[in-house]
Amino acid sequence: SLSLDAAVVAPCGQSLPSQTQSLYSIPGPTNWPLFGSLIELLRKGGLQRQHDALIDYHKKFGKIFRMKLGSFESVHIGAPCLVETLYRNESVYPQRLEIKPWKAYRDFRDEAYGLLILEGKDWQRMRSAFQQKLMKPTEVAKLDGKINQVLSDFVSRIGQVTDNGRFEDLYFELNKWSMETICLVLYDKRFGLLHDNVNEEAMTFIMSIKTMMSTFGIMMVTPVELHKKVNTKTWQAHTMAWDRIFSIETTGPGDDFLGDIYRHSHLSKKELYAAITELQIGGVETTANSLLWAIFNLSRNPCAQGKLLQEIREVLPANQTPSAEYLQRMPYLKACLKESMRLSPSVPFTSRTLDKDTVLGDYSIPKGTVLMINSHALGANEEYFEHSSLFKPERWLRESRPINPFAHVSFGIGKRMCIGRRLAELQLQLALCWVVKDYEVVATDCEPVDVIHSGMLVPNRELPVAFIRR
Ligand code: HEM
Repeated sequence: SLSLDAAVVAPCGQSLPSQTQSLYSIPGPTNWPLFGSLIELLRKGGLQRQHDALIDYHKKFGKIFRMKLGSFESVHIGAPCLVETLYRNESVYPQRLEIKPWKAYRDFRDEAYGLLILEGKDWQRMRSAFQQKLMKPTEVAKLDGKINQVLSDFVSRIGQVTDNGRFEDLYFELNKWSMETICLVLYDKRFGLLHDNVNEEAMTFIMSIKTMMSTFGIMMVTPVELHKKVNTKTWQAHTMAWDRIFSIETTGPGDDFLGDIYRHSHLSKKELYAAITELQIGGVETTANSLLWAIFNLSRNPCAQGKLLQEIREVLPANQTPSAEYLQRMPYLKACLKESMRLSPSVPFTSRTLDKDTVLGDYSIPKGTVLMINSHALGANEEYFEHSSLFKPERWLRESRPINPFAHVSFGIGKRMCIGRRLAELQLQLALCWVVKDYEVVATDCEPVDVIHSGMLVPNRELPVAFIRR
């Protein structure tokens, strides 16, 4: 009967445990002995194109599929209802996929773990030390003055160092901007990264994050212990990058943001050091990358940029600096950023390692399974975003059809979601406001820009954009 069916099928098409199928029934790409789908993935363009392969696989296999790369097996989800079920069944200490290469380095050099790699109670202890200051909207809003200080320098720099409005390396400039901002927030100190004679140490830090990010992928699908033992080039490059990252001099906890956290938490200095290092790892390139793509998307969509400018001019008096308060009256600006992060995310997925058996849709998935939450594939799915390849900020406005919140998870979900989310959003919204108010961002060519996965999703060439003073 109808009522019985309704009882059997829960809201998101979830089967009852007694009717579920096993992990091994989940469809997926070729699964060869030893290699799994590695060869198929290599044929599709390798790890650098894995984000496209994941979209293809969701098209082919649907909401959920299972894939093995070498010895690494994972279950991929790309539907809001499954993300929601996962969220509703979240455990006390949600866990991401273990990043063995990062842990191997810390153990090798006797350094502590930070939020990205900690687990269980230790993770929670560190998380709660930072949670209030970084996640409470009213606390984060107080940082707008510092963010503006750096943005004011950045915007002047656009006028000074560009050649016909073009930077030689826009991504690098944005990395310096984002590093300068995070350092000012954390240490209350300017590093001078936006000067012509930049601080060598901070530059090295940025470059080392890039190297570290681009060398760990391969050690996730091949045994890191082997890399370490044989001392492969990848292990050497990875270790050297981490050595440089950990060698950056900080002032230590003073009277600032960090000092406050140090005094109010039970973290040792070594833990605090690992924590801030990982905040920087999590925060510098992701934020720079998101601004890079937002600038690119606005350059290719002059109409949207025009509407954004109009909103900024209506809300912000001509002689005023943008602030967290003005942003509250700029829904179109927020929509532009969300849309850019949907269409061109920095991070294509996050993960969870199940710490209990969990029913997801029609399948019963055992404890220990690694789930990949494919946020990029979700954002590219026509079922959830009509005309998904178009940049349409309007879709996020109140007047439009509501969007399922679990279809847009670029900062992850639940207790373990990005702790820098609010800071990043404020930084990015203010940045767009500053840039668009003073400059028209124009496309210098209309050729396609390819996206490659290098720890993050990056363009395959210098972006064809120029900044023209309004
Ligand atoms: C975690 C994205 C900015 C620090 C994450 C996760 C994602 C993400 C997807 C995984 C969440 C999950 O598993 O549910 C981004 C993006 C950013 C950004 C797209 C910029 C646009 C930042 C900033 C910081 C930061 C500015 C530091 C201030 C972290 C940390 C974690 C994390 C420490 C681990 C949190 C935990 O496990 O408790 N981020 N992030 N992120 N992010 Fe961000």
